[in-house]
Amino acid sequence: MPLKVIVVGAGIAGLCAAVALRQAGHSVEIYEKSKFAAEIGAALSLSPNGVCVLRSLGFSFEKARARQMMVWESVDGTTLKQLSRLDFEHAEEEYGAPFMAVHRVDLHKELLRLALQDGNGKGKGLEPATLELGAPVVNLSTEEGIVELEDGSKHKADLIVAADGLHSVVRSVALKQEAKPSSSGLSAFRFLVSTDRLKGDPSLSNLLEWKAPGVTILADMSDTVNERHAVWYDCQGGEVQNFVGIHPTHSGVDGVQSRIAAEVKESMLQEFSHFHPDILKIFRLSEEVKCWPLFIHDPIPNWGYGKVLLIGDAAHPMLPFGGQGSNQAIEDGGALGYLLQGVENAAAVPARLALFDKVRRNRASRVQTLSKVRSGREKEIEQELQRYADIADSTVPGSFPERISHDFGFNVLGRCEEVLVHA
Ligand SMILES: Cc1cc2nc3c(=O)[nH]c(=O)nc-3n(C[C@H](O)[C@H](O)[C@H](O)COP(=O)(O)OP(=O)(O)OC[C@H]3O[C@@H](n4cnc5c(N)ncnc54)[C@H](O)[C@@H]3O)c2cc1C
Ligand SMILES: *[C@@H]1O[C@H](CO)[C@@H](O)[C@H](O)[C@H]1NC(C)=O
Repeated sequence: MPLKVIVVGAGIAGLCAAVALRQAGHSVEIYEKSKFAAEIGAALSLSPNGVCVLRSLGFSFEKARARQMMVWESVDGTTLKQLSRLDFEHAEEEYGAPFMAVHRVDLHKELLRLALQDGNGKGKGLEPATLELGAPVVNLSTEEGIVELEDGSKHKADLIVAADGLHSVVRSVALKQEAKPSSSGLSAFRFLVSTDRLKGDPSLSNLLEWKAPGVTILADMSDTVNERHAVWYDCQGGEVQNFVGIHPTHSGVDGVQSRIAAEVKESMLQEFSHFHPDILKIFRLSEEVKCWPLFIHDPIPNWGYGKVLLIGDAAHPMLPFGGQGSNQAIEDGGALGYLLQGVENAAAVPARLALFDKVRRNRASRVQTLSKVRSGREKEIEQELQRYADIADSTVPGSFPERISHDFGFNVLGRCEEVLVHA
């Protein structure tokens, strides 16, 4: 008998888990709060550690119009002088997969296809997962494995995978206390602009030529007190340029969802007014600027509560420094499916969840701790990192290149195989 699994939340973690569990032969029901299973207009980076997992799930990078990233460079946002550069041209050989960027909508669409389509993109004739939209989970019983939806209906499963994101309801219920992330004091502007619009302007066209193919960090070197930098890379086969502007949160300006777009744009232009004129020119071309407050949370010492398992941002909410939030969510989903292969009896689940904990918790807690600091500041959190060091290998990353090899070089499915063999 396959297991019956309920997944709470159809975000990146929930959908990856649904795909992996479906492919492992289990019966999956997904409940999603929002009415439309859609992501917002922004891109994200897929590092080799996440790309490996997506590949194993049969994810089509072509359908998702993913873009390979060759370089991670830092430049001075005012002078555009290069500060540092890491090459990822040989990521495939070094880390087992390329470094890529993808539009969230495309990532989401492709994961939905793998979760819901008949057959499953891998040619296996397993039952598709089911997805119910407009179905927020409001309460649950961790011991009985029952979720309660807003409409009052109750649903029981052998395992409940809580993938309800940063502001997880399940996390607070499972921990039996308010487990809310706290404000980091930083916010992120985000917008997209079509490459054609840049090409239509001679100086911006030159800037496109100048830019390294991959991630460009535009750092504010003039302010040593406040964190302020922009992140720039393209997606959708190079047709769209993606920008993120990290800056100190200003009360009154940030964090209000319904804020008028023009006001948000104006505050972004002010915040980065001392940046290079061509960068500002691009910022002025933006049409729909969103502002996201960024939250922080200490690693949660336990992700499993009776029949409930927290994954993704619900388990390890992190800051975007290092671009690992989604990649950790993908590692979670892939690992869960891998470790529950061949399980035909609910009684066998707890032992497998213990293996999941072994593979995932220290690893994601390290990445989560690293996410608090931007590149080059790894030494500042070394002591904290030690708490989540692997027993076999207590060395923790102390520099940006070490962090990259720590984050990118982890083969989560290989690790799952190892723990299964030794179980
Ligand atoms: C500015 C910024 C830039 C980022 N850049 C990157 C990057 O480059 N690379 C990277 O890897 N990560 C990046 N991240 C992080 C990434 O966005 C998150 O880590 C990732 O989306 C987490 O996935 P998730 O599935 O856990 O949560 P989410 O994607 O938030 O999904 C949660 C889902 O659960 C649903 N839900 C919520 N409550 C309920 C409920 N009660 N019942 C049912 N459903 C519910 C929500 O509607 C949502 O669909 C970035 C984040 C920010 C803010
Ligand atoms: C949530 O569920 C628990 C366990 O079933 C129950 O004791 C509690 O009263 C419920 N809470 C609410 C607000 O319904």
